[in-house]
Amino acid sequence: MSANPLAPAWLTLPTDANALAPGLWSMNSARTADGHVCIAGVDAVELAARFGTPVYVIDEADARARARGIHDAFSREFSRLGSHVHVYYAGKAFLSIDVARWMTSAGLNIDLSSGGELAVALAAGIDPARLGLHGNNKSLAEIDQAVQVGVGAIVIDSAQETERVADAAVRHGRVQVVRLRINSGVHASTHEYLATAREDQKFGITIADAPALVARIRGNPHLSFLGLHSHIGSQIFEPDGFAEAARRLLTLHAQLLADGPVPELNIGGGFGIAHTSADEPASIESIAAALAEVIGEECARLHIAVPDIAIEPGRSIIGPSTTTLYTVGTTKDVVVTLEGEPHGGVEPAALRRYVSVDGGMSDNIRPSLYRADYSVRIVNRSSDAAPVLVRLAGKHCESGDIVVHADYLPGDVAPGDIVGVPATGAYGWSMASNYNYLARPPVVAVRDGVARLLVRRETEADLLARDMGLHEPGETDTGAPE
Ligand code: LLP
Repeated sequence: MSANPLAPAWLTLPTDANALAPGLWSMNSARTADGHVCIAGVDAVELAARFGTPVYVIDEADARARARGIHDAFSREFSRLGSHVHVYYAGKAFLSIDVARWMTSAGLNIDLSSGGELAVALAAGIDPARLGLHGNNKSLAEIDQAVQVGVGAIVIDSAQETERVADAAVRHGRVQVVRLRINSGVHASTHEYLATAREDQKFGITIADAPALVARIRGNPHLSFLGLHSHIGSQIFEPDGFAEAARRLLTLHAQLLADGPVPELNIGGGFGIAHTSADEPASIESIAAALAEVIGEECARLHIAVPDIAIEPGRSIIGPSTTTLYTVGTTKDVVVTLEGEPHGGVEPAALRRYVSVDGGMSDNIRPSLYRADYSVRIVNRSSDAAPVLVRLAGKHCESGDIVVHADYLPGDVAPGDIVGVPATGAYGWSMASNYNYLARPPVVAVRDGVARLLVRRETEADLLARDMGLHEPGETDTGAPE
């Protein structure tokens, strides 16, 4: 059997289309003797029966281990330089009350990007001092609440925000600790929408404008300057971009030290993960080592002490922990004409099988939005049938509604099969929508053979609850935020 010519160059024909590629599936995923895939000792078939599909299944021990692992790897490397590391879990990747608690119990702080995420962290009972708040356009209400509850650090993203945060600090009789987000101009090699430090975009202050703004912060008795912040983008596989941003920031950091303390340097998140077996992101250990080396050398060159370091990983902690389970509804084979000369009067063509599942772009927008690739396996059985090239499609009214652009599945894949798409823990649920009035799927944690619901499935009643057509005429709630 040879590879399907419609398959992308990176996708190789598997010798076993049942195999769960290591590094792609969560640590405690395995196919058992009966052919079922089990995650942390819980059978995927049972999960689908009990919670329905689609369902996001988080391997809890995997997420906790990655949180600890990243914390330990960076702490180890930077402790050699006499520096402490503060890891903030980026809640935008996925946040629920339990996950917030897992992260803080692994020694992490939490990075938030909105009042909504702040509400989750507070509901989880997280000490506000362990929270950080970001955003290029935080509302006055978000700033006010963050200052009031005592959020540990607010990242100032614009000149206007300086006074807004200071005013809130005055109102609440506090001195608010702030960082300043810098746009370092580093071009990270990732999808254009995932790169956040190019010049022509909305985030941060240029290096040239920073000294004046830091002077303004320092001159305000209600603000306390903690240091610079940079986040160059997301799903980045190589350490070079982070290293270059750190170099640029340290030059500015050294300049600012002339006029006062700069206790920390925050280099953001963005460490990439594998979604297919062709992806080979640098390991967290090697990124930590590379960054410690560059930061150590640069501080020595600038004759400054190595500051404490903060990082904000989201995807690299929660992404690989989660598998989305779907049920196959329909399949169809499409004959696709290929480029090339007709052979014996017949145009060259190949077969692509569309396998449609009960979710799609409403539970994972990433393939449509960023052309992200994922991979898929049948999880309710194993099969010896010869592999066929499949495209896993969703159930939405758009042809771009694709979950997995290309992978091989056993050729007997059929309606009723349950399939699993691994590495969907980051920016899946958190960017889920109700497109076509689909209810958003539940999130289930599995650990040591036990499954526990973290977030229940949305219901049609939830969806209708905000439709004012169901309410009494004359109800006055305008829906404006408080
Ligand atoms: N810190 C800041 C300031 C950020 O803006 C982000 C992500 C992070 C940390 C965490 O980055 P991570 O380690 O998770 O890559 N929706 C896109 C990703 C957008 C990321 C936005 N900022 C996606 O699905 O790929």
